[in-house]
Amino acid sequence: MTLEQVRKEPSPYGIDFFIYGVSMCGIIGYVGQKNAPDVLLQGMRKLEYRGYDSAGMAVVGGRALSVMKDVGKVDEIHSRHDFLSLRANAGIAHTRWATHGGVTQANAHPHVSSDGAIAVVHNGIVENFRELRAFLQSQGFRFYSETDTETIPKLIEHGIRQGLGFVQATEDALRRIEGRYAVVAMNKDGTVIAARNGSPLVVGVGDGEYFAASDIPAFMDYTKRVVYLHDNDFVVVGRNGLIMNNLKTGPVERPIDTIEWDAQRAEKGDFQHYMLKEISEQAETLAKAVKQDEGTMKRLVDDIQNAKHVVLVAAGTAYHACISGRYVISRIAKKHVASVRASEFENILHMIDRDTLVLAVSQSGETADTLEAVKMAKTSGARVVSIVNVAGSTLHRESAYALLTNAGPEIGVASTKAYTAQLGVLTLLAYALQGNTEEGRRTLEVTRNQAYNLTAASMRANIRTLADVLKGKEHIFTLGRQLEYGTAKEAALKIKEVSYIHVEALQAGELKHGTIALIEKGTPCIAFFSEANRRETLSNAQEVRARGAYVIGVGAETDPVFDFFIKVPEVGLCNPILQIIPMQILAYQLAVLRGKDPDRPRNLAKSVTVK
Ligand code: F6R
Repeated sequence: MTLEQVRKEPSPYGIDFFIYGVSMCGIIGYVGQKNAPDVLLQGMRKLEYRGYDSAGMAVVGGRALSVMKDVGKVDEIHSRHDFLSLRANAGIAHTRWATHGGVTQANAHPHVSSDGAIAVVHNGIVENFRELRAFLQSQGFRFYSETDTETIPKLIEHGIRQGLGFVQATEDALRRIEGRYAVVAMNKDGTVIAARNGSPLVVGVGDGEYFAASDIPAFMDYTKRVVYLHDNDFVVVGRNGLIMNNLKTGPVERPIDTIEWDAQRAEKGDFQHYMLKEISEQAETLAKAVKQDEGTMKRLVDDIQNAKHVVLVAAGTAYHACISGRYVISRIAKKHVASVRASEFENILHMIDRDTLVLAVSQSGETADTLEAVKMAKTSGARVVSIVNVAGSTLHRESAYALLTNAGPEIGVASTKAYTAQLGVLTLLAYALQGNTEEGRRTLEVTRNQAYNLTAASMRANIRTLADVLKGKEHIFTLGRQLEYGTAKEAALKIKEVSYIHVEALQAGELKHGTIALIEKGTPCIAFFSEANRRETLSNAQEVRARGAYVIGVGAETDPVFDFFIKVPEVGLCNPILQIIPMQILAYQLAVLRGKDPDRPRNLAKSVTVK
């Protein structure tokens, strides 16, 4: 679709029908000597894990701005429209994951001003879009999409009509926006502006070229030098290079960091999917996770010991790491440790005060629910420390300090290696609290070696036999006690999100209090057990077996109660790290056998940056 078509296409939506075009997306901008569409197309492919229902690109060549956008995955759109038919040295692009607004070509980004001179890509929410849109309509602007984003290029255009330059008009527009955003805006003279408030955005600094993107893998083939933008940062890339301002404080200088990941780590290599590659990397990522700075670990041990209450907060998979983490820390520190889902944090706010230590756990460091919880905790006077994978992320910066999980880029939408890295750090912390960091390191080293065996081809073949049995099932139950309950929860989530089979996790002892009514002949039940709870969990396994269940055991020693057994060595407090690995493989294989794309499960995006 050309710019002309975008502008002249009549709005398919009535004036009164307007819903949020909220998006959690990948955005990228480029200015330099290379052909921008080549760089942007690569970047879109790398960012597709953040959203894959539509995508688009705007580029400037010969002082004309062209837009191409459509619904579908990046390569599908490329095969229909050929992004590379465009030629330019500056451009912006977007991959979209819609939460409210429909998946339509009109809603896809970039959005443009009415005169076609300005294009904008956006990740976040313009909360006051209704007011802004009404104001702009009163000024004669017409809208062609359902999105909140479309107000941004039109606000900029309005400023220009009032006599402002592009940079000043964009600054003014962003000051009028309420809500979280990462925005990359481009003028037809090739000036590109990158700005953020609450949503992720990093700038890449190459040799005479600049990138701005939601995530580093989008440009890491070209440069490893990055600037992590802070909230309200406003960066202009034009003829004079890079100019950095903060909308609240004025001109700023931000350090240029060199990232340590290599481009290969964000590539699939010989693996068919990122998910399988990331599962297979876990022996290596665990080794990196436990290489924690002694001083920072000691500081956290002191903070936990000095706090009256300790609360672990996270969402999704990271929360499951907290279920096991809560148990190991409280058992060893002899202190009650609570864990709460980030989206529920507000409901325990009355218990949070300056004597509370909030330990936030996140892969991306950009999950809106977790960031919101951290904000509330800080307002209540609590100390916030994080365990986070992405250095420089919002959570990293919002925390007093952080332990980095060092798992490298995780591209598969389903979290795998970041989860075991979180468990590794939490377990090491538990040992450190006991004053036994060295023992912790040794146990984790043994665990890491076992993780290597568990990701081997022989395990994949064994799990494939099980996947064949389970692939046609509608329901599966997972059971575990204590630490293994975290594993049961995470196994259930992994299988659900990529294979779309319904899985329910239960604390093994709870089964007989109701859910056992659902067990019938052939119902699969997966029981996780350790030395510490073997007897009790096996007796629960016996209860379901007696009702005809197909019982799968995951633990160190088999038992006649199991129809299928997955042997995972006993490593005490580290059991959750090992027991989840065969389940990640199972989830992956079920997805593939059922014809689903495990890297891009339906309705999901990698970081949930909206509440
Ligand atoms: C599931 C998954 C999600 C995330 C959750 C939190 O596989 O990836 O449940 O764990 O959205 O994300 P982070 O860890 O980035 O805060």
